[in-house]
Amino acid sequence: AQAARKVEVTGFQPQEAQVTKLPSGLVIASQENYSPASKIGVLVRAGCRYETPENQGVTHLLRLASNLTTKGASAFKICRGIEAVGGSLRSVTSQKTHSTIFSPFSLLVFSDTVMEYLINVTTAPEFRPWEVSDLTPRVKLDKAQAAQNPQTVVIEGLHQAAYKNALCNSLYCPDHMVGNIQSEHLHQFVQNNFTSARMALVGLGVDHAVLKQVGEQFLNIRSGTGTTGAAAQYRGGEIRMPSNSSLVHAAVVSQGAATTSKEALAFAVLQHVLGAFPYVKRGSCPSSKLVQGVAKATADPFDVCAFNASYSDSGLFGVYTISQAADAGEVIKAALAQVKAVADGGVTAADLTRAKAQLRTEFLMLIETSEGLLDIMGTQALDGTYQPPEEISKTIDNVSLTDVAHAAKKFVSGKKTMASSGNLVKTPFVDEI
Ligand SMILES: *[C@@H]1O[C@H](CO)[C@@H](O)[C@H](O)[C@H]1NC(C)=O
Ligand SMILES: *[C@@H]1O[C@H](CO)[C@@H](O)[C@H](O)[C@H]1NC(C)=O
Ligand SMILES: *[C@@H]1O[C@H](CO)[C@@H](O)[C@H](O)[C@H]1NC(C)=O
Ligand SMILES: *[C@@H]1O[C@H](CO)[C@@H](O)[C@H](O)[C@H]1NC(C)=O
Ligand SMILES: *[C@@H]1O[C@H](CO)[C@@H](O)[C@H](O)[C@H]1NC(C)=O
Ligand SMILES: *[C@@H]1O[C@H](CO)[C@@H](O)[C@H](O)[C@H]1NC(C)=O
Repeated sequence: AQAARKVEVTGFQPQEAQVTKLPSGLVIASQENYSPASKIGVLVRAGCRYETPENQGVTHLLRLASNLTTKGASAFKICRGIEAVGGSLRSVTSQKTHSTIFSPFSLLVFSDTVMEYLINVTTAPEFRPWEVSDLTPRVKLDKAQAAQNPQTVVIEGLHQAAYKNALCNSLYCPDHMVGNIQSEHLHQFVQNNFTSARMALVGLGVDHAVLKQVGEQFLNIRSGTGTTGAAAQYRGGEIRMPSNSSLVHAAVVSQGAATTSKEALAFAVLQHVLGAFPYVKRGSCPSSKLVQGVAKATADPFDVCAFNASYSDSGLFGVYTISQAADAGEVIKAALAQVKAVADGGVTAADLTRAKAQLRTEFLMLIETSEGLLDIMGTQALDGTYQPPEEISKTIDNVSLTDVAHAAKKFVSGKKTMASSGNLVKTPFVDEI
């Protein structure tokens, strides 16, 4: 009957998302989109920014441990249990930002048992000591892979140099902690940070009342503690990571906008005016101001884009360049000059319209994937800033030339942070740019 109902209503317009905050602080957000499979996810504000010096690296292990034994069931039993009712544990916990951990699951059948399994997986892991020590080789492998990726190296370094606390923590377990994180560290971290007030239970293709009941029944474990830790403190600074690579990766940023701030969208539009992440290849994006500016400064191949990272209480905004080692100085300076030109009013109404259209498309493409939609719904629900997609589209339209110039000015006059990697002989220091 369930399947028949789904088929019958397939042609319906998706309903608007519903958001409820339970007395425990747990946020429930769901949307009935009449998709044949339900998707649910648990979002927890428990990323690496909440690590302390004693447990640095604990969230890296948590990410890897997401399929370990859970209280009441072994990993094997859990997988079997979920498969038996048509669910899938395929996607495990991911941590895309320094703030949140996100565990999305696909379910063909939505039942109390499945929900209990999933919630146990997320919130009540056993962390058996031998299972935790068995993770060490995977921690090392992750770190080795990250070290091979200059973009990861630069973005991690950038956070380390930009912040005094919280957001300066790495997504990867630091060297001195590899092999030293014990199961008690994991238990304590989950106990203290996975609190109802820092969690969102999100669902697509599920009835809001049913999801709410599940939240009340199974996720009412650690209510009360709504503390979200210290606010991120921006400091600015520089980190240089020389390597023998003939390409230089460099990021120069100032403090940008927090996701909850009014300026966030102005920065997002500015990013598209300049040329957005991921890199616009030379020639492939002639409208990008950064590409136009840098092409005048060098005849060699390069990549350049505007970079942003946004968190609930802070953000980073600036430029990211990849160039031949010998050109690094010219390329970085040319990119910065383009942002300055925008701050001085060098954006036309046509530039603005194009940038807004690109931003809107990017947003629509993101929410077209169910994981993207769950993630956005959950993040906004946690921030208390949930807006239906049409509203967001309207707010994007509202961004003016003045707003964009203001955002650019904020970058130009802000205290800078710079991170660079490669052969840095010709790369200027942050006080020289
Ligand atoms: C956990 O996931 C890893 C990688 O996805 C896999 O190799 C491992 O077998 C899984 N462990 C269990 C107990 O399912
Ligand atoms: C979930 O965890 C609780 C408490 O640890 C346990 O009693 C229960 O059996 C578990 N449920 C499942 C489905 O594994
Ligand atoms: C997160 O857990 C750690 C380890 O138990 C604890 O020291 C820290 O205070 C917790 N953070 C917050 C914001 O509750
Ligand atoms: C850079 O150094 C590593 C090890 O130090 C070496 O394996 C690699 O071949 C070097 N690459 C270049 C381009 O010299
Ligand atoms: C940059 O900003 C856009 C729009 O606000 C956002 O979707 C994207 O996730 C941000 N990028 C990063 C790395 O935070
Ligand atoms: C558009 O901007 C105006 C003036 O800044 C503001 O009053 C209005 O609420 C905004 N509308 C939306 C949809 O954000």
